[in-house]
Amino acid sequence: MSEKYNSEMNIRKILISEKEIQNKLSEAGNFINQIYDGKPVLLVSILKGGFVFLADVVRKVHVPCEIGFMTAQSYFDQTSSSGHVEITMDLQQNISEYHVVLIEDIIDTGRTLSEIMKLLQSRNPLSLHMITLLDKPSRRIVDCKPDLALFQIPDVFVVGYGMDYGEKYRNLPYIAELQAN
Ligand code: IMP
Ligand code: MG
Repeated sequence: MSEKYNSEMNIRKILISEKEIQNKLSEAGNFINQIYDGKPVLLVSILKGGFVFLADVVRKVHVPCEIGFMTAQSYFDQTSSSGHVEITMDLQQNISEYHVVLIEDIIDTGRTLSEIMKLLQSRNPLSLHMITLLDKPSRRIVDCKPDLALFQIPDVFVVGYGMDYGEKYRNLPYIAELQAN
């Protein structure tokens, strides 16, 4: 069985093609370019899901910028919106000196993201914005509004372009819906 066949097993359909993604990336780049006012810009990605999107977006940015990574572990119970987010790897930068833009793969319930935004805001960045590749507004539990969402998608579980199911499928160049088994 070839590698290609392996990684494409269980894909139900392609929701957003590689070309559609590539055509939208400059919107994210333009948004970031406009934030620049001579002070440093920091693009923050929460690993691992956002790494492919960040890598593409950063190449559409034409102002000086730095990148930073965080990892977070969320603990929520199934029914309530309250919970706890533990930062397991933090940024190295003192963000009070930066215009910070969080570059996310997908906003789902909004629970993890809203906690991370609160944490970043508490560190008094020069400004704080959020760009997401995908938005699933119908799933929202906690108020969490991106400044820019490249695509809105229905309530389906997606993989590819950095996003995983059981750590697999991150390598797909498109966004796909998984086969429900
Ligand atoms: P939220 O806090 O519920 O908005 O969770 C957002 C995080 O959950 C994303 O950054 C993803 O890591 C993960 N996630 C949510 N929906 C999906 C999906 O459809 N596919 C893959 N990961 C997802
Ligand atoms: Mg994520």
